[in-house]
Amino acid sequence: MKKTILVTGGAGYIGSHVVKLLGQSNHYNIIVYDNLSTGNRESILSGELIEGDLADTHLLQKIFTSRKIDAVMHFAAFIEVGESVKNPIKYYNNNTCNALNLLKILTTHNTRNFIFSSTAAVYGAPENGIVTEQTPLSPINPYGQSKLFVEKILQDISAAGGINYIALRYFNVAGADIDGQLGQKYKNPTHLITRCLKCAKGEFDKLEIFGTDYNTPDGTCIRDYIHVNDLAKAHIIALDYLFEKKMSNIFNLGYGHGFSVKEVVDIAKKVTQKDFKVVETARREGDPPILLSDNSKIKKDLGWLPDYDDLEFIIKTAWEWEKKL
Ligand code: UFG
Repeated sequence: MKKTILVTGGAGYIGSHVVKLLGQSNHYNIIVYDNLSTGNRESILSGELIEGDLADTHLLQKIFTSRKIDAVMHFAAFIEVGESVKNPIKYYNNNTCNALNLLKILTTHNTRNFIFSSTAAVYGAPENGIVTEQTPLSPINPYGQSKLFVEKILQDISAAGGINYIALRYFNVAGADIDGQLGQKYKNPTHLITRCLKCAKGEFDKLEIFGTDYNTPDGTCIRDYIHVNDLAKAHIIALDYLFEKKMSNIFNLGYGHGFSVKEVVDIAKKVTQKDFKVVETARREGDPPILLSDNSKIKKDLGWLPDYDDLEFIIKTAWEWEKKL
């Protein structure tokens, strides 16, 4: 019998790529729960949409009462580091409190499997920049903290026997669906690659580099960019792991090497063949200098391997998508 998966935030950038894969596997009934605040109806390529907010516990109760949900994949959250520094309550409210409410509801209805979109931001600004899952957790912005609170809650509920969960700590998710059906579609994108592409398109007049005085080879921040299809694939493997092994676990999800902001800008110019304007400005609050994943655990325990570990390819997929918007 098909298992039923509730996907919160399934109309969003990452959620929609995972929903597409779930649909292709043909093993699942998919319910997308999304308030469409940043997600898009047309990005849902499989399953059914229930339009609703995470804060609407009444509606969530109704969903869990009326059907048997086998697993929840929880993507719905706010994701901007800079905004979280300016408006922390918004982040703690949605990312932490609403996640707790969801967990309360699902545990009372005996849904035992939970996949959580965590983030590399839980590590803060680690000393050598490369983190394993054992690296101490010390977020330097409310976004990372809001996600870490949820990890702690999950750990305790799991220890008490309530659920099994997988927390996937995403590094810098980028690119667009390799079939060209999905991609990022934000009204005000803040992510580096998307902003470069908006500049190449002429939608933005310049790309600002936030800080050139970091202790890195070219002075700009280094990040581990992972293609969204590789990231999505890990969720399907994690779901199988939960159903088979019935064990909780936490994994880094990145490629294990990185690129500086300047390197990303150069590759974006090469891919788009547009020499857009770049200006160097002050640091953005809450940015760690280097954040790279040690991904040996997910490779060993889940057998996950990347297919698209090539930044030029990643940016190409994003550019093909961006040109269609
Ligand atoms: N940057 C610029 N100019 C821009 C946009 C970004 O210089 O216009 C810089 C940032 O300062 C940073 C780097 O490019 O150094 C990457 O910034 P992004 O905003 O693209 O991504 P972040 O690293 O801030 O955050 C992303 C996700 C988080 C996740 C984090 C983990 O949004 O959810 O990666 O590394 F936690």
